[in-house]
Amino acid sequence: MQPQATAAVVIYGNGQVAELAMARLLADSPHRVVGFTVDGALIRQAVLHGLPVVPFEEAERHFPPEQVRMFVAVGPTQCNRIRAERFEQARRRGYGFVGYVSSRAQVAADVQIGENVSIGEGTIVHPFVRIGDDVHIGTASVISHHCLLGDHSFLAVGCLLAGNVKVGPRSFLGARATVRDHVAIGEASVIGTGVTVLRNTAPSSVLVAPEPVLLPVDSASVRL
Ligand SMILES: CC(C)(COP(=O)(O)OP(=O)(O)OC[C@H]1O[C@@H](n2cnc3c(N)ncnc32)[C@H](O)[C@@H]1OP(=O)(O)O)[C@@H](O)C(=O)NCCC(=O)NCCS
Repeated sequence: MQPQATAAVVIYGNGQVAELAMARLLADSPHRVVGFTVDGALIRQAVLHGLPVVPFEEAERHFPPEQVRMFVAVGPTQCNRIRAERFEQARRRGYGFVGYVSSRAQVAADVQIGENVSIGEGTIVHPFVRIGDDVHIGTASVISHHCLLGDHSFLAVGCLLAGNVKVGPRSFLGARATVRDHVAIGEASVIGTGVTVLRNTAPSSVLVAPEPVLLPVDSASVRL
């Protein structure tokens, strides 16, 4: 993993994921955030955290791709389709991207990391892992050796991938999802919070964890 040169960055997005990206880049990266861009129809305010918000349709006029790089900060909405589309559009329009790897993540030196990737604090990435473009890994996850994370995938907080797991492009893994070694998650799957995946999933699968049992007692009656 090469250290990144300082860049001026425009963040695509104006929601909470974009705010989080801004805070992380400002506090824990060599980069300088210069503004936000989002589809014109989604602009709610012209200034966010003291920075201009400009329509994505005319981003080049405010933030020329020769001078500014982009970070596309959109959540897993529509199974990561929105983020994937904006990332590809920005790339076609000539933008380069920055990534964010928390200074408190532990990422093995040989790990291959694509563009527009974020890796949250406390996450551990073992050797021989390959991470595609536009992949977002939240806080405190473990990505074990020889895993392959497909483009535009999104792992929420506390995911655990055992060795040799393949995560298909555009898949979403919810908080505390666990995947057994050598399992392949099909493209655009949704793995719900707390699910343990033991077998390969077909593309576009949705898995949810069993509901906890609700005991028919009052909390005052349990032995704590
Ligand atoms: C899998 C998940 C995405 C589904 O969310 P959803 O689209 O809101 O789905 P719902 O909770 O409305 O459930 C859809 C249906 O499945 C049913 N269902 C949900 N969980 C179930 C479970 N554990 N067992 C059985 N049925 C279940 C619901 O009853 C509902 O059925 P209905 O349409 O007949 O009412 C969601 O449960 C989840 O795990 N989200 C991830 C949360 C997370 O990690 N967030 C981090 C973000 S960074």
